[in-house]
Amino acid sequence: MPKPTLLVTRRLPQAVLERIEKDYQADVNLSDKPLSAGEIQAQAVGKEGILVCPTDKVDETLINSLPDTIKMIATFSVGYEHIDLNAAKTRSLVVSNTPDVLTDCTADIALLLMLTAARRAHEGNAYARSGEWDGWKPTHMLGVEVTGKRLGIFGMGRIGQAVAKRARAFDMTIHYHNRSRLPDNLEQGAIYHDSPQGLLGFCDFLSLHCPATPETVKFLNEEHISMLPDGAIVVNTSRGGVVDDEALIVALKSGKIAAAGLDVFEGEPNLNKGYVDLPNTFLLPHVGSATVETRNAMGFRALDNLDAFFAGQEPKDKLV
Ligand code: DGY
Repeated sequence: MPKPTLLVTRRLPQAVLERIEKDYQADVNLSDKPLSAGEIQAQAVGKEGILVCPTDKVDETLINSLPDTIKMIATFSVGYEHIDLNAAKTRSLVVSNTPDVLTDCTADIALLLMLTAARRAHEGNAYARSGEWDGWKPTHMLGVEVTGKRLGIFGMGRIGQAVAKRARAFDMTIHYHNRSRLPDNLEQGAIYHDSPQGLLGFCDFLSLHCPATPETVKFLNEEHISMLPDGAIVVNTSRGGVVDDEALIVALKSGKIAAAGLDVFEGEPNLNKGYVDLPNTFLLPHVGSATVETRNAMGFRALDNLDAFFAGQEPKDKLV
C-alpha cells in the first residue's frame, strides 16, 4: 500500500516529524515560517491531507482553491477558529483538532499567570536583575494574595475545569459561567452563574477559557470590566480576541484592574504595544501548550486522526 500523501505547513517537534516520515509521503515546511495561502494551495497539489497550525488561515477562499485530491485537514491545535468549518463541510473535507492533550499544560500556564500577575513577577524579576535592589523592606513590592480568593472561570470546558482543580489547592472559591451547567461530579462545588454578567461581580480573579466565537469577541470590554470588583486580576490563555485591549489597558492604568497575565493577543504576534510598558502586566508569547510532552502529544493526536481517516475509519476528533 502506498503511504498517504501529506502537506505539513510548519516545522513540528522531531518525534512528530519522525512519525510523519515513517507513515506518510510528506512535504514539510521546515523553514518554520508560515506558508502563504498561495503556497499552501500550490504545495497541496498531489496531496491527500494537510496538517495545519493555528497560524494558518484556512478560510473559505483557501478551502475552495485546494485541489480535489485533498480529503482531510488536521490541525495541530485544540482551537479551530482559523478554519472555516462550513466551507470544509461544503467541500466534504474532514477536519480534526487535538483536544484533551493540552488541557493540563494550558491550565498550568493559567495558574502561572495568576501568580505572576498577582505577585508582580514582571516588576520583581526586572528589579532583581537591575542591580538596584537595596535590600528587603516591609513594604516593598506588595502584591495581591491568591490563596483564599474568588476565582471566576469564563468557559468551564476541559481547561477551565483543570484550572479550577489547581485553584482549589490554593483554597480559592470557584465561580463559573458556561453555556450549560456542569453535572455535580464535574462542578465539584463550583458556583454556577447562568449569565457572564452574573459571574463578573464575584471575580477577584477572572480566567478566560472560552473559544473565540462571534459571541465572545471582545467579551472583556469596558462594560464588563466595570462589573468586576475593583482591583481584580485578569488572566487570558484562550484567545486574544476575547479581550478588548484598549479597554483593558485603560483599566490597568487606572488600577480598576490590578494586574493582567496574558498569553494570547489579538493580532498575534503584533500585540497591542499599550501592554508592553505597563508594570502590572505579565506577558507570554502564546506558550500555553509549549512543553515537549504536550507538543509531541498534539502532533501524535493529529496523526492519530489522519491515520484513522486514511485507514477508512472515523477520526476520533472529527469536527466536520
Ligand atoms: C491551541 O491548541 O489552540 C493552542 O492555542 C495552541 O497552543
